[in-house]
Amino acid sequence: MATIEVKDLYFGYKDEKVIDGVSFEIEKGNLVSLIGPNGSGKSTMIKLLNNLYTPWEGKIFVEGKEINSFRKKELARKIALVPQNSSINYDFTVEEIVRMGRYPHKKRFQREDEEDHEIVEKAMKDTNTYELRDKAVTEISGGELQRVIIAKALAQKPSIILLDEPTSHLDLNHQIEILNLLRKLNKEKNTTIIVAIHDINLATMYSDEIFMLSGGKIVDRGSPEKVITKRNIEFVYNLPVAVHRNKYTNSLSITPLNV
Ligand SMILES: Nc1ncnc2c1ncn2[C@@H]1O[C@H](COP(=O)(O)OP(=O)(O)OP(=O)(O)O)[C@@H](O)[C@H]1O
Ligand SMILES: [Mg+2]
Repeated sequence: MATIEVKDLYFGYKDEKVIDGVSFEIEKGNLVSLIGPNGSGKSTMIKLLNNLYTPWEGKIFVEGKEINSFRKKELARKIALVPQNSSINYDFTVEEIVRMGRYPHKKRFQREDEEDHEIVEKAMKDTNTYELRDKAVTEISGGELQRVIIAKALAQKPSIILLDEPTSHLDLNHQIEILNLLRKLNKEKNTTIIVAIHDINLATMYSDEIFMLSGGKIVDRGSPEKVITKRNIEFVYNLPVAVHRNKYTNSLSITPLNV
């Protein structure tokens, strides 16, 4: 059974169609990248997979069960979302935000225990935010906040993590660190990872599968080798490129040619 199954999905805001007849399955333990130009529907798709919108038509199944039949906390134990732009206006500390990741696992008024404590501490250490734990989240940098939100998602211990451009605010070192961490979770805990990402060269390095979106449709999906072709990239991004193998990583790389 696929961990996520999407059937004939249509969705839009007001009367503008944004997801235009999308169907796919994602196997448990896959690391999938969603790529595509601005406005192609990546963030919308990610939010639909977290049950934040009601589709116009079509269905989404999570581990065989329709997504809208889950209770909120039950779904949060399965899926964690790291949104594209998180902003937190209250001056919670970093540690308080990460601890919120444990809520779906607690009954009302149930206290945190030693296990919660350890999970929160590990999530902060894994994301390099432990040193920041007593700082207010209103007083840290954009990249630091992004790592805190990822730590919260890790503390949630979900079987699926959805991340919307998790590396967009990160410096090169932290980009690689976060992607390595996601791959480690993916390999060691079999966590399914779905990530919207603009950097195609990073996507080819880390993904089992790439979904290429354009105009709310999946125009191609499959291994990086299948999807990242000169023809596909030029068609979807309207940009002449060379596709070549990176001699250091052995993954495919693209270089824009009209520079
Ligand atoms: N809340 C909203 N209300 C109305 N229209 C929206 C809303 N969010 C997105 N859209 C529109 O839906 C389309 C798809 O947006 P979406 O955010 O899913 O694209 P994206 O692929 O994530 O783009 P980006 O790469 O810029 O993040 C765009 O045309 C956008 O203008
Ligand atoms: Mg987006």
